Amino acid sequence: MTFHVGLIGSGNISETHARAARAISGVEIAAVYGTNFEKVRRFCRDHGGTPFEDFSAFLTHRPMDLVIIGSPSGLHAAQGIAAAKQGLHVLTEKPIDISTRRADELIEAAGRARVKLGVIFQDRMKPHIRQLKDWIDRGVLGKPLLADARVKWYRPPEYYRNSRWRGTLRLDGGGALINQGIHTIDLLLWLLGDVSRVEAQTATELHAIEAEDTATAILKFASGALGLFHSTTAAYPGYPRRVEISGTEGTVILEHDQIIAADLRKAPDERAGIAPRDENPSASSAVVSDVRGHQAVIEDFLSAIQKNTVPACDGQEGRRSLALVEAIYRAARSPQRTAGV
Ligand SMILES: NC(=O)c1ccc[n+]([C@@H]2O[C@H](COP(=O)([O-])OP(=O)(O)OC[C@H]3O[C@@H](n4cnc5c(N)ncnc54)[C@H](O)[C@@H]3O)[C@@H](O)[C@H]2O)c1
Repeated sequence: MTFHVGLIGSGNISETHARAARAISGVEIAAVYGTNFEKVRRFCRDHGGTPFEDFSAFLTHRPMDLVIIGSPSGLHAAQGIAAAKQGLHVLTEKPIDISTRRADELIEAAGRARVKLGVIFQDRMKPHIRQLKDWIDRGVLGKPLLADARVKWYRPPEYYRNSRWRGTLRLDGGGALINQGIHTIDLLLWLLGDVSRVEAQTATELHAIEAEDTATAILKFASGALGLFHSTTAAYPGYPRRVEISGTEGTVILEHDQIIAADLRKAPDERAGIAPRDENPSASSAVVSDVRGHQAVIEDFLSAIQKNTVPACDGQEGRRSLALVEAIYRAARSPQRTAGV
């Protein structure tokens, strides 16, 4: 069977989507839609597919089985809903959109149209992170007590200056938290379960943007565990994301997407130490040149379509990080700096 993919967007991440999709046998780029038609045409020359500048015409192009959305974040739900109404499965980039209200509309539309909806959080597919999830689920860390997650990244001024949507409230929905930090928010929720309360502060001190370039939060997990979270795009020159999780049986430290320490009372049999390192320099760049994470997400999504199962990160799963991000923003705006999730 051949899967025919339609790409929405032809910018930075759509390049990753095209390369990841083309690395999978039985997948063809059928069509590409974007607002800059010259760029879309060039994109199709490189990766195949029919270029479109008219969104309605793109949506009725056939054969086409699914769309992968790589447009600005605030467009994901509206474009996903339009695609679902045409019977197309929808795999969207993170965040699912910039408000849970719109996320819910997309989830509902996909359900009504009986199409699959997936959200790209490729870190969930990384071997070491899956190893850590397995350890936590099997109780190897004991009862989780404390998570310390730091996303001290850097983006140069041009990253915002040359973009019509990054760092804007209308299309990015915020800054360093909803765009960069959300990957790690998603991981914390996936690894440790729901958060029930947050205390937070945000600031815009380095970049000339209307949203925050720095966010900090104290998290209270429903399990009773506590968490400390920072996310910034202002920490020159940018450092690998670091997550330290301590439980009653020991501590595991993740740097970027590698387990760099597993100090456990009882060493588990298996260690993911042999897994190849992801080569993306996320600490200092938005480019995802190592496409293996995205490839694994697309493979999982295609398998969900084929076997009629639930994708690894479906709409409800993808909504969780956005709900927590919204609560962090709410807390940061409130006089007491605190909010329920
Ligand atoms: N998973 C990841 O690691 C990762 C990495 C980078 C970006 N992203 C996500 O991908 C999305 C795009 O980010 P990017 O870095 O590729 O941005 P980008 O600015 O490089 O690309 C966005 C593209 O969307 C196009 N566009 C603008 N309006 C549009 C519309 N109405 N319809 C279709 N296309 C439109 C722009 O012309 C541009 O080509 C964001 O939601 C971002 O959060 C995810």
